[in-house]
This record gives sequence, structure tokens and C-alpha cells, in this order.
Amino acid sequence: MRSSTLALKATTLLLFAAYANAFWRMPCVVSGLARIDPLKYYGTISEHMHAIHGSSGFSDSAGTTELLAGECTSCQVTQDKSAYWTPALYFQNSATSEFSLVNQVGGMLAYYLLRPNAGSPNVTAFPHGFEMIAGDTNQREFNYPVPDVDKSNWNVEPYNTQEFKRQAALGFNCLDYTNPAATEGSLYRHSLPDKAYLDAHCKSGVRFELMFPSCWNGKSTPDDKKSHMAYPSLVGEGDCPPDFPIRLNTLFFETIWDTHAFAGTDGQFVIANGDPTGNGYHGDFIMGWDEQFLQDASNQCTDLSGKIEDCPLFTIQPLGDSTACNIAESNIPAPIAKELAVGGATTLPGNPPIVYTGYASDGVAAAPSSSSAPAPVSSAPAASTSTSSEQPSSSVASDTQQAPSAPSAATSSVDPSQSATEASSTIATTSPSPAVTPAPAMQSSVSTQTYFSTEYQTKGQDVVEVLWVEDVVTVTATALSARKRHLHKHRRGVL
Ligand SMILES: *[C@@H]1O[C@H](CO)[C@@H](O)[C@H](O)[C@H]1NC(C)=O
Repeated sequence: MRSSTLALKATTLLLFAAYANAFWRMPCVVSGLARIDPLKYYGTISEHMHAIHGSSGFSDSAGTTELLAGECTSCQVTQDKSAYWTPALYFQNSATSEFSLVNQVGGMLAYYLLRPNAGSPNVTAFPHGFEMIAGDTNQREFNYPVPDVDKSNWNVEPYNTQEFKRQAALGFNCLDYTNPAATEGSLYRHSLPDKAYLDAHCKSGVRFELMFPSCWNGKSTPDDKKSHMAYPSLVGEGDCPPDFPIRLNTLFFETIWDTHAFAGTDGQFVIANGDPTGNGYHGDFIMGWDEQFLQDASNQCTDLSGKIEDCPLFTIQPLGDSTACNIAESNIPAPIAKELAVGGATTLPGNPPIVYTGYASDGVAAAPSSSSAPAPVSSAPAASTSTSSEQPSSSVASDTQQAPSAPSAATSSVDPSQSATEASSTIATTSPSPAVTPAPAMQSSVSTQTYFSTEYQTKGQDVVEVLWVEDVVTVTATALSARKRHLHKHRRGVL
């Protein structure tokens, strides 16, 4: 589609082979779009919509054991029955106020970066039962200078804090394959650019990036799924804090969203958790490997190419098997079995409030959205809170300085702290409304998609990207069939 298949095919833009660390890159396609989140909403419906990848054994109460028992995986290595999920991305059309799901390009990549502590040869594999969340769904601001100060300063206040590292672990990489000179480094930009900027500059979409913490305190996963882990000094590498001495696999998510499909249409992009800023992007992981196998792979799959094909331990399944693998239907809770992930309503699925600034309240899981659901609660951004320090770079300041245009429903400015209360009035108790979001017209006629990715290498302390292009034909099929399968699955109930 568009200009994606052009000139860059198999072109290496940057390559620094020296100092590269070993890693592998796990390609996964969507196994389901659903309001399921066993880490934060165990045994119930989650507040917002997720794009889920991995084992078919995923459910609202899945752990490592249940994932390992799943019949298949939507990732390409059959031994990987893990679960990887993030909120989905939506576009809200300002003329109609309706939300549409933004399509993923090529599924998701889960990088396993092998970065041992200084002086030790190997990383420690995620243990059986290991779970973690990276990012904070309530965050709506990046609280530090933009762009980042040089990493040589990350050992002093405030950059030596976990709070900085957590906020800096998000990336929104503006992609334009027609303009190699504009290639951005991973984790360069920590906020989602606004619609005008995306239209003008990100012609190949936006790659959402998320670095997970890799330093473990050695204790079992706590209820918050976070406090057992910490970032090393440079977020994705460096030294672990003393209380978190065990270096695990460094997990890094990349998902490309086809934001440019909405170029020229007025509206805003909103992450499924009601976040138009990007700062509340987050991701979840449940370990679904045999622990000893993952340790062996972490010791031995050290080819610098990052290709799963270069690890002799991995069994790689045909792409068709990955795309055919869905979350088992019996694992989808009845109240959301017919909920449409593709959008079409004037609220996000689950109706989380859209909050533009500050720190949002914890969400409450609402009933499946329907056309009669209440309008979204939105707090319009105050112009004065958009300071120049929040801009990705001076060249884009005039674009991103603009307050996002509030959707038509956002007529009242509501204190974000009230949002949970508002939302809780819509919560389903025992019998949620059976109303289902009507199926929207499918606007996506996807033609040839090229699958772009990055290699992730380091030169000293600088992370350097290698942009490259994978097999066009094969992964095109992946993206398409994943999407079709998905729409079919969710439309079945209403057709
Ligand atoms: C690290 O990996 C190497 C290569 O597989 C292996 O020989 C060695 O035993 C491992 N060391 C530890 C401590 O696991």
C-alpha cells in the first residue's frame, strides 16, 4: 500500500556490528482483541481493549501453567506459549465521534535482548510463574526535558530514578520509509505525536515501543506485578540497582500501527485506555516457556542476527499456524464475547474516560459498550500545561503544541479524579447489558504490506537501529489473515 514497497527493500541504513549484544526477535500475530487482562483484572473483564499475542490458553485467569497448556501459540516459535499484550490503538473521527480500530502492521515483535550483568556470562531466564507489567496506564505526561539528556547523565538526579526510567521506557517512532534521513532511534520520543504531526511526517505509521525492566529482586511476582522488577541504569542496559541484582531477559515490544490510513481525516488517536498522549502506554507479559528451555535458549541463542532461524533450539512453525491460533473461544467471558474490538461506537470499548493531562484515576471495567452508553468523560487539556519541555523536538513544537481537539462529546471539563466515579456508574454487576457495538463499515482495504522492522544493537552506550525489510509476501499474508480472522470472529455474533 502507498509507498511502502519502495526503494528501501533490504537496505541497511545504519550498521554498527561491533559491541552488538545477542538477542532474538520473536514475531507474533494477534491471537485476540478482547477486554481480558489476568494481571490487573483477574477473573473479570478489564477496563480497556487489548491486542493479545501468544498462547491460545490465555484467559482472564491464566498463568504460566494455563498458557503452557494452550494448544497453540500465535508466535512463530512453538516453544513460546507466553502471553504478550498491550492496549489497542483507536482513531476517533471528529465529525462522527466514532472510534475505529487502527490496524497493526505485521503483528508484534517481542525482542529478547540478552544483556547479562557485567562479569557474568548469561542472563537468567524468566522463572516459571513470572509475570510483569511495564508502563503506567494512568500516566498522561512526560515529566522530563525533551529530547532526553545524554545518557552519560543518567546516573544523576532525576535521571537515576526508576520514575524517569519508567517514563523513558516508552517510544513512539515516527516511520517514513520514503525518508531514511528522518529515521528515529528507538525510545527517542516518549509521547505520541498529535494527528497533524503524524499526517505530515509519519507516512509509514508509528511504531510503539516498550522496554521492560530486566533487574529482578529474586522474589515471586507481587500483586502489583511491578515491584519485583527495576530498570537498569540505562533503561534497556547498564547496571542493576543493588536490591534487584538478578539480570533476566530484557523484553522489548514493538508494534507498528497504521496511523497513516487516517491521514486527511480530522480526529485524534486514542490508546484503548483513554490515553491520547501515549504516556500511559503499557504492556503485560506472562512467562509461558518451559523454564529450562528458556534458560538453554538464553545461553545458546546468541547469534547477533536476532533471527529465530539462527537458533537451533527453536521450532519454527509456518505462518499459517501462527495466524490460525486464537485465544480459545471458551476462554472469552460471555459478557464480552460479542463485543466488537473494531470500534464503531462513540465510546471506546469498555468506555474508559479519555484523560488528556495529569495522572488519570484507576479505571473500572464497564459493561460492553453500546450506542446508548454514556458519552466519554473527557478532561480538556489546559493550554498552559503544554510546555515546550514536552515537545519531542523543536522542529515539531508548533504541531504538538496544539491541544488535541476535543471530541464533540467533551463539552464539560471534568476533574480526572472524578473519572472513576463517573465510570463506575456504568459498571456491569451481575448481568451486563447485552447491547453490542454495531459493526462499522470496514474501511480497511489493505493491499500489499511490507513488513519493516529494526534490529537492535548497541555501540558503547548508544542504542543504534538498523532498519531493514523482511520477506514482503509472507508477512503480508500474516497481517491480513490475522486481521480478517479477527474481524470475522468478532462479527460472527451479530451477523
Ligand atoms: C552460560 O552459557 C554457556 C553457553 O551455553 C554455558 O556453557 C554456561 O554453562 C552458562 N553459564 C551459566 C552460569 O549458566
